[in-house]
Amino acid sequence: MDLAGKNIVLGLTGGVACYKAAELTRLLTGAGASVQVVMTAAACQFITPVTMQALSGRTVYTDQWDARIANNMPHIDLSRDADAILIAPCSADFLSKLAQGRCDDLLSTLCVARPATVPLFVAPAMNVEMWQNPSTRRNARQVAEDGIRLFGPAAGQQACGEVGMGRMLEAAELLEELVCALAAKPLAGKKMLVTAGPTYEAIDPVRGITNLSSGKMGFAIARAARHAGADVTLVCGPVSLPTPAGVQRINVQSARQMHDAVMAAVPGQQVFIAVAAVADWRVANASAQKLKKQDERSLPQLAFEQNPDILATVAALPGAPYCVGFAAESENLVAHGQAKRIRKGVPLLVGNLGPQTFGLDTNELILFDESGHVSLPAGDKWTLARELVAEIGRRLVHATPGTQPLKRTA
Ligand code: CTP
Repeated sequence: MDLAGKNIVLGLTGGVACYKAAELTRLLTGAGASVQVVMTAAACQFITPVTMQALSGRTVYTDQWDARIANNMPHIDLSRDADAILIAPCSADFLSKLAQGRCDDLLSTLCVARPATVPLFVAPAMNVEMWQNPSTRRNARQVAEDGIRLFGPAAGQQACGEVGMGRMLEAAELLEELVCALAAKPLAGKKMLVTAGPTYEAIDPVRGITNLSSGKMGFAIARAARHAGADVTLVCGPVSLPTPAGVQRINVQSARQMHDAVMAAVPGQQVFIAVAAVADWRVANASAQKLKKQDERSLPQLAFEQNPDILATVAALPGAPYCVGFAAESENLVAHGQAKRIRKGVPLLVGNLGPQTFGLDTNELILFDESGHVSLPAGDKWTLARELVAEIGRRLVHATPGTQPLKRTA
């Protein structure tokens, strides 16, 4: 329930992408928001207020002169309780109205009449030529300068048959942008590097050694860090998870590739979170050709050599970022966790029981620091990721010289 308790005014203007506003309304209410739909006359040509009212569960307003509002001032009343206004779709015409501050219908008047504390987001949706037209470029720049955030547009196939920039973001992408925009930003201005997933160590061109890490925890942390305002780079082993919006992703396979990618990306980072389940060993005698099956007395003999310890290497750098390790143990987490934190030389280590969480959406975390350990209540990985990122944000404040570390129970 990422939007629990939030009041969102969803404005629809004229465009084929109005069909996506129906799905968006479902996603917004599913995320806990109350959705107040306001439509322009042009939007009503593409989708009916009946549909939007059924989906939002609230009266839809289309007219500045709607007498159902007691004081007959819908532009005031509908914007005062709002936590945000989202215009999706936002047509070229409506963008030009916003750029000029025109007030010739309910939705444009409501946008201009909103209190300065109510953020306005717009999701442009239009034909590629309309988006590229110099007047639209100018209007987009102007609204951005006025503090109105644009979500998208994306490039792709358009309803008119042409291809290019101007497609409205999908409903799920708009929800993600809205949740991110409304989240607190304790990591604003910080750069964060995250590793995630397993590594893959080749035996031959078709076989390898890997582990059961799904990457879900690391990806959730990268997403939560971006929501918290960080500029996030995610180095990940072979996983098929979608890249969190706004996160820069670097794909690697082996531990050595992950090491090299991390060392190249680490300068300038303020935080490094090593969530990846990195293979401790690689195959020293990997074969350039596929190993062929022979009789059962001549089984392949694998030799191993140790991989670099990425976390310990970064933690030992001069001017190292604030380093957070993860420990995936199979038993005796409390004893192993604290020992591992000290061995790796990091201020914070997060312990979890690997076999109880690999591939699942839930986890249980224990935080180890110099003053002891504390458990976070078991929960889904997204909730835990947000709590962990918030905790790291607090520790960064306390890590500045002259302030006290947090008190923890031993
Ligand atoms: N790690 C790393 N590079 C490695 C091995 C581990 O950066 N070559 C990081 C992991 O990303 C994690 C932490 O170190 O943040 C602990 O990983 P884990 O596999 O639990 O610890 P190991 O050091 O490998 O110890 P062991 O396998 O003996 O428990």
